Amino acid sequence: MRIVTAVAPVNIATIKYWGKRDDDLILPLNDSFSATLSLEDMCAKTTVMISPYLLENKFWLNGKEENMDNPRLSNCLKALKDRLNKENSEEVSSWKIHICSENNFPTAAGLASSAAGYACLVYALASLYQVDGDITAIARNGSGSACRSIFGGWVRWHKGSLEDGTDSIATQIFPTDHWPEIRVLVLVVNDSRKKYSSTLGMKQTVMTSELLKHRTKFVVPDRIEKIIDAVHKKDFQSFAKLTMKDSNQFHAVCCDTYPPCFYMNDVSHAIIDMVHVYNEFKGQLKIAYTFDAGPNACLFIQESDLSEVLSLIRYVFPSNLNANEYYRGIALDKDLFSKDL
Ligand code: DP6
Repeated sequence: MRIVTAVAPVNIATIKYWGKRDDDLILPLNDSFSATLSLEDMCAKTTVMISPYLLENKFWLNGKEENMDNPRLSNCLKALKDRLNKENSEEVSSWKIHICSENNFPTAAGLASSAAGYACLVYALASLYQVDGDITAIARNGSGSACRSIFGGWVRWHKGSLEDGTDSIATQIFPTDHWPEIRVLVLVVNDSRKKYSSTLGMKQTVMTSELLKHRTKFVVPDRIEKIIDAVHKKDFQSFAKLTMKDSNQFHAVCCDTYPPCFYMNDVSHAIIDMVHVYNEFKGQLKIAYTFDAGPNACLFIQESDLSEVLSLIRYVFPSNLNANEYYRGIALDKDLFSKDL
């Protein structure tokens, strides 16, 4: 019997992946760039066990038994078994497997749960089967963004150019301790499952959006280089602007999809307004927002601004972000920021 437990954190894309050139191999139309949260934060935890005594394959997600026939799961397992060390492959690859996975945050609510989940699963399985070398391309088979959660720190997913996808891998650009002053606040606006998955949404976008063509060809290549330079120099002003503009363009592309996919809601828009009013008041960018395929906000801030920003959020959204009707709206008077925060 072999048993392994792994933990993998969520990653937050600051330059978004949206659109595939190959749906089966999960090959993206553009490079993307993200920050992986730390192991104390939002994580998936997965235990995998193989044994000659198990009678069937089984998979539990958050305590509930799920179907093992999921093609993405099968693709990950197959890709790993293809790389098994020949000496023990015969025996081990025929053993049945039990997988038990849980997230310490809402699943499928646009909080990158599949990224953490598949990264964790593939990492655990690779240890179990003693597979060496790059495993990001295998994690990509589970969910595109999962390849970035294999590494900590600042990570780039290279779209690659080969048809078989072997060069569509993630690499760590800067290590976890590169910019320790950066903090991420995740504002959970709604933790229910999203209406339409990223997979379906981006498929529809690829089929219908003109703006996506412009984005992948003319915007993202330049933006990726610029954001890497900004993170390298720890230049928060450039980093924040690029992050917000990319989030906005991603959601513009979602609106340009036909029929459109609306992932943000009124509270998300109020958060965007709050950030811009606050940044303008401070005379520089203090907060950067980014939104994935859901209404929940991820805010990047520097540690020195953390307590003031937390006070700001508590003031503007005094109850909690789930209660849409309670937020104070954003007709913020500049005096608001003068003393009491
Ligand atoms: C908006 O990786 O969930 O979070 O590859 O179809 O599983 P699939 O999609 P997924 O899409 C993530 C989209 C995003 C942006 C990003 O993380 O880059």
